[in-house]
Amino acid sequence: MALPPPALTLTGLTKRFGSKTAVDDISLDIRDGEFFTIVGPSGSGKSSLVRLLAGLDTPTTGRLHLRGTDITEVPANRRPTAMVFQSLALFDHRSVGQNIEFAMKMKGVPQAERRARALDLLRLVRLPEDYYPRPVTQCSGGERQRVALARALGSDPEILFFDEPLSAIDYRLRKTLEVELKELHQRTGKTFIYITHSLEEAMVMSDRIAIMRTGRFEQIGTPDEIYRRPNSRFVASFMGEVNILEISRTKGTPHFADLDLPAPQAPGAFAVLRPEALSPGAGEGPSFDALVTQKLMLGSRTQFHLRAGNTALIAEVAAGPRSALEVGQTARFGFDPADIAWVDS
Ligand SMILES: Nc1ncnc2c1ncn2[C@@H]1O[C@H](COP(=O)(O)OP(=O)(O)O)[C@@H](O)[C@H]1O
Ligand SMILES: [Mg+2]
Repeated sequence: MALPPPALTLTGLTKRFGSKTAVDDISLDIRDGEFFTIVGPSGSGKSSLVRLLAGLDTPTTGRLHLRGTDITEVPANRRPTAMVFQSLALFDHRSVGQNIEFAMKMKGVPQAERRARALDLLRLVRLPEDYYPRPVTQCSGGERQRVALARALGSDPEILFFDEPLSAIDYRLRKTLEVELKELHQRTGKTFIYITHSLEEAMVMSDRIAIMRTGRFEQIGTPDEIYRRPNSRFVASFMGEVNILEISRTKGTPHFADLDLPAPQAPGAFAVLRPEALSPGAGEGPSFDALVTQKLMLGSRTQFHLRAGNTALIAEVAAGPRSALEVGQTARFGFDPADIAWVDS
């Protein structure tokens, strides 16, 4: 049996602004019902790309297909898609219900049906029904975000786009909304295409993550693949604190240059080692002496800042006897080479 066509197919999608190429020849299939997240630094082209996908802008070259139909020239309001912005863009002078019903009203849905669907959507985004008549100005930040979601869902889109919707929201609420968004995705079964500059946020919610750099995708993979097997130092840099060790071949055999340790299997120019892969004690793998220069309690884990020769390293250890080391002590630290992600640049 033939597979259903992808929700979205991007073919050589390119957007130029004068001499600036914001989106550079991207080809990709996004599966029906997938939670697909694009992560990249400011200016990498995320918003330019999602604007093309949402029909808010047209590509300089390339095509876009929705379930196999070419929609490259179809404007946003005639696509079965909706966008949730960071700025929330709610109508402040209107009620929660009027905001949610906006798209339905534009489509001519009768009032009773609009109201029934708006109340369903309120439940879907976990807001009480008595919010329906409330002015949006009386909603908190998190409630406004939920109203914005319900409003985007009001047109019953096949695909929802999110351009950094949580980046202006404080940490605790953001964590709650991440889980709610993931659950909303599961409950609705719709395709979600999400933009953020935070890999941590992306990992919580996504089926697949694309790391974007100057208009291109540097790596596409599951959260686990991106986290365990970054394919470049650029991708690894999104993992927060990570150890990147250069491999030198100057002495004939490869070695971890800064640590002056042999590296018999060194298929790349750099070894990316997550802090939790570096632990006190010498095992089977490479090990070295390091001075503890800082000790930070992170709750379930303890983070050690280390110095070995001229090299600064970070190790994270589960709370317990192995985290007994103190600042000023020197101890042996080691790692399993299987935990290394090798990268060439
Ligand atoms: N309308 C525009 N006119 C000119 N340059 C633009 C326009 N929109 C975006 N750019 C440029 O394209 C690049 C990518 O921008 P953007 O897509 O907003 O990145 P991001 O969302 O990842 O921060 C930037 O260099 C930006 O200055
Ligand atoms: Mg942007």
